[in-house]
Amino acid sequence: MNKVKIFDTTLRDGEQSPGCSMNLSEKIVMARQLEKLGVDIIEAGFAIASPMDFKSIQAIAQSAPNCVIASLARCNKLDIDTAWEAVKDAKKPRIHVFIATSDVHMKYKLRMNPEQVLQTITEMVSYAKSKCNDIEFSAEDASRSDREFLAKCFSNAIAAGATTINVPDTVGYSTPQEMGELISYLREHVEGINGVDISVHCHNDLGMGVANSLACVKAGATQVECTVNGIGERAGNASLEEIVMALRTRKDFYEADTNINTLEIYKSSRLLSNITGVPISPTKPIVGANAFAHEAGIHQHGMITNAQTYEIMNPDEIGIPHRALVLGKHSGKHALRERLETMGYEIPDEELEDIFTRFKKLADAKKVITSSDLEALTLHRSKIVKTDDENNVPLCQLVSHSITSGSDIPKISYVKIKRDDKVMEGVEAGAGPLDAAFKVVNRLLGIEARLEDFSVRAVTEGEDSIGEAVVKISSSATGEMYTGSGISTDIVEASLQAYLNGVNKMFEAGESR
Ligand code: KIV
Ligand code: ZN
Repeated sequence: MNKVKIFDTTLRDGEQSPGCSMNLSEKIVMARQLEKLGVDIIEAGFAIASPMDFKSIQAIAQSAPNCVIASLARCNKLDIDTAWEAVKDAKKPRIHVFIATSDVHMKYKLRMNPEQVLQTITEMVSYAKSKCNDIEFSAEDASRSDREFLAKCFSNAIAAGATTINVPDTVGYSTPQEMGELISYLREHVEGINGVDISVHCHNDLGMGVANSLACVKAGATQVECTVNGIGERAGNASLEEIVMALRTRKDFYEADTNINTLEIYKSSRLLSNITGVPISPTKPIVGANAFAHEAGIHQHGMITNAQTYEIMNPDEIGIPHRALVLGKHSGKHALRERLETMGYEIPDEELEDIFTRFKKLADAKKVITSSDLEALTLHRSKIVKTDDENNVPLCQLVSHSITSGSDIPKISYVKIKRDDKVMEGVEAGAGPLDAAFKVVNRLLGIEARLEDFSVRAVTEGEDSIGEAVVKISSSATGEMYTGSGISTDIVEASLQAYLNGVNKMFEAGESR
């Protein structure tokens, strides 16, 4: 059985996709989860892109010691120096340098000829190697590059010290057969390829990101680059959970496996969706709500007789919790901790206190508390990690609210909030009760946040289910977007919590007053 390394780029390529940006503490939480998931390499960011990217790579380098921590860098000294500064404190640092190798990219983007690109690869990979032993070299747009030239680029990179060469299908253009053949060609024609990892990085523009990655594994690739839930530029990157489960389920065909602890897959997927506010499609393989649901009577009958009739994977393997009744109004903190532990959540005491308070409140509103209720409470715990900067920012909390709404009457909201022990309250009228409530928050805090997007959906089952509200707000001062989420059995309360969560992120980003 061959081992395939999983290079997770959720925090770099994934975070580049619209609506998926994360703040520092969210990236740290996600990186810790990726480490638990067992990914081999975390690409933590693109250090030169912004001071925030640089800072988060540094913080992740200290937070996830069991993984290789990589930063992306273009082929120039400033990028490489900055990437090295960001990862150098990691136990296992990697610099990931890239340059485009296709004719169209070299001519119109780089304005360089092939000879100049070859020379730059040699110079810049050697420069990166003088700082860091673990060097990955990527040929951007490799799948649309001339094969002979591509093989020369990789040969030069290896001669200059690259320990991994990456073959991206940058624009998601290739087919599985072509990608597989390209890997076979490179294995034959790249000098010094033995002992060097061959990586693939497939985008999903034609919906073939996962199939292309798997075809490369079949042809001998030893590393796959992917993201949780398949987030990424445009149509996204190849999805981690699909690749891992395809390799696991079809071991007989691929003869390859990964180091991933599949029990952590579901939790990683939910955590990312919760952080970014980007929902998972119900039909998404492996982690979608319907991935293991059997509606048709004939299927249900088969499932009862023998699950293998219609199920090729066991949902337990992925860590999907059983939706059984688990706790009630009289359950204590001990029972709560135990239940969370069986669901795979190890919660420090101070955070358990917060979950317990909200659990009691929820148990008053609902008769039975299921695993999905507990999951929602856990994912929405008030603050999972606080960075030093954030510790100094007073956060706003909802104290109480009430609304008046109906047809042909004014829509009025009253909101009371607390910031830094200061309690403030106000009333506003608006186009609807939420518009009015958000206006109160803006006025009390003296901010001009604009609501850009809003959604509410049930995240647990039953009439008394928990509603999760997700808001995207923009700051009129900077134009920056912030995502906030909140949960409650009362959707107005969930929406206000989501709005305040977004506002708090705006303050944490330095937009405080
Ligand atoms: O898609 C791509 O080509 C990339 C490279 C920078 C690896 O993300
Ligand atoms: Zn990419």
